[in-house]
Amino acid sequence: MKKILFVTSEAHPLIKTGGLADISGSLPKALAELGQDARIIMPNYQAIKTTEEVRYLSTIYVYNCAVNILETRLPGTNVIVWLVDFPEFFNFPGNPYVDEHGKSWANNAERFTLFCRVTVEVAMNRSYLDWKPDIVHCNDWQSGLVPALLSLEYSRPATVFTIHNMAYQGIFPSSTYRSLNLPGQLWNSNGIEFHDMLSFLKGGLIYSDRITTVSPTYAKEIQTADFGYGLEGLLSHRKDFLSGIINGIDVDHWNPETDINISQPFNRMTLYKKALNKTALQEKLSLPVNKNIPVFGLISRLVEQKGIDLILKCLPEMLTHPLQFVLLGSGNKSFEQRLYNFAEGHPDKISITIGYDEALAHLIEAGSDIFLMPSRFEPCGLNQIYSQRYGTVPVVRKTGGLADTVVDTVPKTLEDNTATGLVFNEASPGALMEAIKRALILYSHPKTWKRLQTNGMRKDFSWTKSAQQYMTLYSHL
Ligand code: ADP
Ligand code: GLC
Repeated sequence: MKKILFVTSEAHPLIKTGGLADISGSLPKALAELGQDARIIMPNYQAIKTTEEVRYLSTIYVYNCAVNILETRLPGTNVIVWLVDFPEFFNFPGNPYVDEHGKSWANNAERFTLFCRVTVEVAMNRSYLDWKPDIVHCNDWQSGLVPALLSLEYSRPATVFTIHNMAYQGIFPSSTYRSLNLPGQLWNSNGIEFHDMLSFLKGGLIYSDRITTVSPTYAKEIQTADFGYGLEGLLSHRKDFLSGIINGIDVDHWNPETDINISQPFNRMTLYKKALNKTALQEKLSLPVNKNIPVFGLISRLVEQKGIDLILKCLPEMLTHPLQFVLLGSGNKSFEQRLYNFAEGHPDKISITIGYDEALAHLIEAGSDIFLMPSRFEPCGLNQIYSQRYGTVPVVRKTGGLADTVVDTVPKTLEDNTATGLVFNEASPGALMEAIKRALILYSHPKTWKRLQTNGMRKDFSWTKSAQQYMTLYSHL
């Protein structure tokens, strides 16, 4: 049995802004089910909601800050969660990274440096918790200083750093670096310095014993200039220590047979009941109720990465077809406004919900026929996987985890029952529109469509295989 400290800035259902929370809420649980002692450490944000007991464990002093360590459980599991409690940094409304108005917290470097320093104290068993991990498994830039700081410790645990998204690097001016009082040895071009800036992400990439990312294709992509943001050289230099492990999903939480957020449970055998969810979705969003019209769904952070501009360019042509389009998302204000403006003229065909709504996300997965995910890049992506579980056929661009989890529909894959969606190559409105039209044609052939749906629903997206891959990785350290 290994002791694993899982370091993350968000975990579902405690707090979530995106897929990292889904993974942090499900991978430690899967590791625990495999007999490992996996514990989570994360900041104690004001927005954390839990029905579980939260108790005080200890207070430690880190650079003149008195920080409390609180303990709770990942709701509904036995997985221990340690909350780094420092109200001056974390007890504010808003999300982990931005304030109520969507503006990055001005002191993010200080906030996550403190989080990393406290994590190091916990990892070195200097926090009165009487527990020392074998492995410290860090995730994304917010935890990037942990492998860097641990590299300076004697008799330290092994470190793994998982990249969920290279687009977010935690880069700050060198003046910020100086004000943080970080050890001078780390500040060089083979360290956390990146073009005279402080890079949290680089701390993870340089100093961790192993690097992983969340799909095999993305592991290759980030070694190229198009996806590496200037770190491709470093990543290919460390390629023997870099691997891609595809994300699993929480198959209990995303299960159409037991989902309490949807109108009518269903499975592969009772697929006809999916139509009742479509009706419920149309009613909820005030769209004309029509079970024959194809409904396209999209749930996403509204950012460049997700190809929202491609959707905006395709919408006029999409509207020339009999279909409905349902979108749930939030993010970039200009995308939000343009989507709203477009929807205004077409209330019978388009529904745009700006905001974050967990229950609606489940109903969209259950009630849509087709799911759109035209990402420009996608380290793994989860909604295309949830879609397949819910018999909703994904239309995706061939990149990252989308390429690894969706099988395009061509005569061969139809014949051998591996086809689960529509995959297109080029990040252009024309290529997306062509894939949408292919989906519409397939939708008009109910027998073929049902095959695509059941092929997707039959696939095993649980953590079993991937958690095992992490265990193998840990065992080599
Ligand atoms: P990313 O982490 O890049 O945002 P993923 O596909 O890995 O992309 O995960 C996104 C997760 O966040 C999914 O669980 C998705 O359902 C959820 N999500 C995104 N936007 C919203 C929203 N507006 N409301 C509810 N859930 C959302
Ligand atoms: C990131 C990526 C997404 C991935 C998620 C969880 O947010 O953008 O593709 O699924 O992390 O690993």
